[in-house]
Amino acid sequence: MAGVAHSRGVARLRIGVFGAGSIGCYVGGRILAADAADVVLVGRPRLRDQLAKHGLVVQDFTGPRAEVPTARLQVATASGALAECHVVLVCVKSQHTEDAARELAGVLRPDAVVVSLQNGVRNPDTLRAHLGERKVLASIVTWNVIAVDGVYRRATSGPLIIERAPAALVEAFEVGGIEVVQRDDLGPEQWTKLLVNLNNAVSALSDVSTATLLLSPGYRRVIAALVEEGLAVVRASGVRPARWNGVPLGLMPKILRMPTAIVKLVTGAQLKVDPAARSSMWQDLDARRPTEVDYLNGEIVRVAARAGVKAPLNARVVELIRAAEAAGVGSPKLSADALWQQLTA
Ligand SMILES: NC(=O)c1ccc[n+]([C@@H]2O[C@H](COP(=O)([O-])OP(=O)(O)OC[C@H]3O[C@@H](n4cnc5c(N)ncnc54)[C@H](OP(=O)(O)O)[C@@H]3O)[C@@H](O)[C@H]2O)c1
Repeated sequence: MAGVAHSRGVARLRIGVFGAGSIGCYVGGRILAADAADVVLVGRPRLRDQLAKHGLVVQDFTGPRAEVPTARLQVATASGALAECHVVLVCVKSQHTEDAARELAGVLRPDAVVVSLQNGVRNPDTLRAHLGERKVLASIVTWNVIAVDGVYRRATSGPLIIERAPAALVEAFEVGGIEVVQRDDLGPEQWTKLLVNLNNAVSALSDVSTATLLLSPGYRRVIAALVEEGLAVVRASGVRPARWNGVPLGLMPKILRMPTAIVKLVTGAQLKVDPAARSSMWQDLDARRPTEVDYLNGEIVRVAARAGVKAPLNARVVELIRAAEAAGVGSPKLSADALWQQLTA
């Protein structure tokens, strides 16, 4: 990869972002703000117009804002702009991965490295199926981003966990202020992230911030039940998910059911949360866009069917999210009790 040449000072690393939205603009913006590489953002025309109007600002809730100089911003609405990129970060939602893969196959250099920055467990394989010999790396974005008018604010703490990546790319992330953890195999951690992400739908259905969900025994009861069911399903399929921040996943439902003071102690030590943080599924419902539910709670339902076990709670969550998408009025704002009843009636 030419990025290796970059680390020897021969060529500057050129990174493309395909599907520039919350994650793509935050990660691309961090790299650009630090001038750690050239970055081309490929997104919808509305993103191009928004960046032209407001510029691109990245911010950590614990740190200062960084504005990307306009001269560095390269924004396009078609994948052809990625033709010369050494690395492409795929940041579309999972339901768009197949289309993205077909499109990228027609434009990328044969030696381009492609990184999936997406949630869900199947995106890297979907990309590999279309991208031939190109190297495709899985990664896990452990933090949350809130996007408002060109300001991309990271709202929770955590590293980018990535399959062993070229040194020049790791350097670009790190110079951009993104902590990187490399692994040989991300499979067990991707399942762990999926199980943790089962709470995204609770955020979307409740209209409640991540911090408030954690402080509410009622919503924690719902999340605990979804994770417990999901974990049983994943284990039944023969997968052993990795620990989450050092905690065995089997303990998570037990911790969530403990009194709030103990939950605060345990999660507060591991996770910093912006009071405004909400899941990307909430953001999708709010913007009247289709959600990724089929690839999160829906993945549990699919794996359950294959393993010959049941996942009624996660199946019901998929139905509730589908109904909310169809209603087109944003979150149904279910109270913890109403949500529990909807899931268990
Ligand atoms: N947001 C978070 O805090 C967060 C945290 C961790 C992980 N993730 C994961 O990161 C991934 C990206 O999430 P996100 O929140 O960044 O999504 P997002 O804000 O919806 O950004 C994706 C963007 O890509 C656009 N897009 C889709 N297909 C395209 C195409 N062919 N050409 C150009 N643009 C295209 C989408 O437009 P349309 O909306 O018009 O389709 C959307 O604007 C997801 O898998 C998500 O689960 C997100």
